[in-house]
Amino acid sequence: MSEGVGAVRAGITGVGKYFPEKVVTNHDLEKIVDTNHDWIVERTGIHERRFSEPGTGASDLALPACRDALAMAGVEAGAIDGVLMATITPDMIFPPGACVLQDKLGAKNAWAFDLSAACSGWVYAAGVADSMIRSGFARRILVVGVDVMTAILDMQDRNTCVLFGDGAGATLFERLPDGDETGFLDIELGADGSGGPCLYMPAGGSLKPASAETVANREHSIVQDGQSVFRAAVDGMAAVTLRVLERVGATGADVKLFVPHQANLRIIEYARRKAKLEPEQVMVTIDRYGNTTAATIPTALCLAQEEGRLDRGDLVLTSTFGAGFTWGGAALRWSISR
Ligand code: UT7
Repeated sequence: MSEGVGAVRAGITGVGKYFPEKVVTNHDLEKIVDTNHDWIVERTGIHERRFSEPGTGASDLALPACRDALAMAGVEAGAIDGVLMATITPDMIFPPGACVLQDKLGAKNAWAFDLSAACSGWVYAAGVADSMIRSGFARRILVVGVDVMTAILDMQDRNTCVLFGDGAGATLFERLPDGDETGFLDIELGADGSGGPCLYMPAGGSLKPASAETVANREHSIVQDGQSVFRAAVDGMAAVTLRVLERVGATGADVKLFVPHQANLRIIEYARRKAKLEPEQVMVTIDRYGNTTAATIPTALCLAQEEGRLDRGDLVLTSTFGAGFTWGGAALRWSISR
């Protein structure tokens, strides 16, 4: 995709993450809904997740993550061309959460907008940022995946409330110097809107604005047909993972780290086996943080960097599948030194 002599490349030069302090274990949830630790671990791989305090906006979680990403890259907020916030839980429907964040960051020279692609949000935003940088439209874009899932969780619905958590992961995308062979090699995005009814929030949009009735009917929270999403995600995420690998001419053995979306450990395991990857080649964070929607991949990249699992030049593979349905995958050579 961005290969070839003299081709402009975009790479990630800084990463940051932020999770709320409040840890919620499976045992904590047992006190709220009819569930149990063993079921959650067996079916999802989740042990605990982080919940925000009420009154926390997505921009509040994103801000410290973005500051850390900029500090790692040694870039001032004023030097960013754009802020791209992947989220389904912005502070408000409008103004864009990215604009709230741009103001808090003091990124005065940046355009800012939100991108809504649910669990695929960060990969979609990576596709947009990579294209903008390679076309010459921008040099530096802060791509943040953030979700305050607790804002849209129904804590009476055991089918969904045990799955999600809050978090923010920030990645600074920069145009790499000529001749730098790290950066993005391939990105694929896809969608099948017929899967929409499997995972959605019924009210609060233009079709069904908030009313006393929608509140009474608990329509401002996630509704999921778990099994349908599971079936589509297992096949969809493995398939996009394999296509990306094939397009960059790599095999599982070439991959330093597979950083998949963290919705269910069984979905991750299936993709891992299909791509012929060993368990130690996979970044798993779902046990600690649950499914943070758009934040799973950028927070996992940041944790991998912090844990010394990545070094400059390493081949990183990522893939996702989620509401929409949307999916995506990317291969990149890591641009940050250990
Ligand atoms: O990132 C966004 C995309 N989302 C996903 O990728 C999620 C995809 N789906 C899944 O990960 C799985 O479908 C779930 C984890 C949501 C559910 O696992 P499952 O193995 O598909 O369970 P199930 O929905 O088939 O439910 C099995 C049983 C049911 O009981 P019966 O009917 O067999 O008696 C459920 O009522 O488990 C019951 N159950 C629970 N039990 C204890 C459902 N939720 C719970 C719970 N605790 N929290």
